[in-house]
Amino acid sequence: MNLLETVNLKRYFGEVRAVDDVSLAIAEGEFISLVGPNGAGKTSLCNVVSAYLTADSGRILFKGRDVTRDSIVERVRAGIARSFQLVNLFDDLSAFDNVALAIFSRDRKIRNPGRLAHLDRAVTAEADAVLAQFGLSGKRNETARDLAQGERKLLDVALAYALRPKLLFLDEPTSGVSTRDKGQIMDTVASVVRGEGITAVIIEHDMDVVFKYSDRIVVMHQGAILAQGTPDEIRKNEQVALILLGTSGPDAFSERD
Ligand SMILES: Nc1ncnc2c1ncn2[C@@H]1O[C@H](COP(=O)(O)OP(=O)(O)O)[C@@H](O)[C@H]1O
Ligand SMILES: [Mg+2]
Repeated sequence: MNLLETVNLKRYFGEVRAVDDVSLAIAEGEFISLVGPNGAGKTSLCNVVSAYLTADSGRILFKGRDVTRDSIVERVRAGIARSFQLVNLFDDLSAFDNVALAIFSRDRKIRNPGRLAHLDRAVTAEADAVLAQFGLSGKRNETARDLAQGERKLLDVALAYALRPKLLFLDEPTSGVSTRDKGQIMDTVASVVRGEGITAVIIEHDMDVVFKYSDRIVVMHQGAILAQGTPDEIRKNEQVALILLGTSGPDAFSERD
């Protein structure tokens, strides 16, 4: 059975077909990259699947169950979490408190977010373990605002991961960081995701990164799925090269840089 299946999913903004009849099946354990030019509908698809946007029509099945009308909280409880293109951190809180808050919210323990985790040893231990998995132990007590961009992106992924999802959508986890930091972020994310058997959908622009890490690549264009396949299949797809790079030919993906 597919972990996630969208069936004829649509979400329009007026005339703009942000998500246009998307039928996508994702098997458990897959590491998928979702690519496409700016405005292709990648974030909108992620938003609809994670309930940050409602669908106009179509269905979302998670583990075979229809979750189309479920709230964000219900979908998190079912096992769907996501990170954000623009990170969604509590800037005034430490890295540790950000993770602890995610764990508290998952466990529905929050009463007063101002007085945080320090009292709960289980949460403290788990938050420290999550920070360690993301290589952020050394930044534990730093205020989120003061972290480097790459660390902020990793922390945002860590918050989604702390919800213990089965399916994790990561919206441009490497945007705004240097090429070197990109590799480090992707190595960290891939090792956590694969190590825990989490199914991941990563929105990413850098095709070198996409080809390196993905089991499957899904290409969106104007709200619809233009193509999908293995890195090798997508590398050879001239229509995809044309859409993504504005150039075609067998070397389209290696001509840059
Ligand atoms: N909240 C919104 N209101 C109006 N239009 C939107 C909104 N969100 C996205 N869009 C439009 O939907 C299309 C897809 O956007 P988006 O999903 O952000 O694309 P991507 O993430 O692939 O860059 C774009 O034309 C965008 O301008
Ligand atoms: Mg986007």
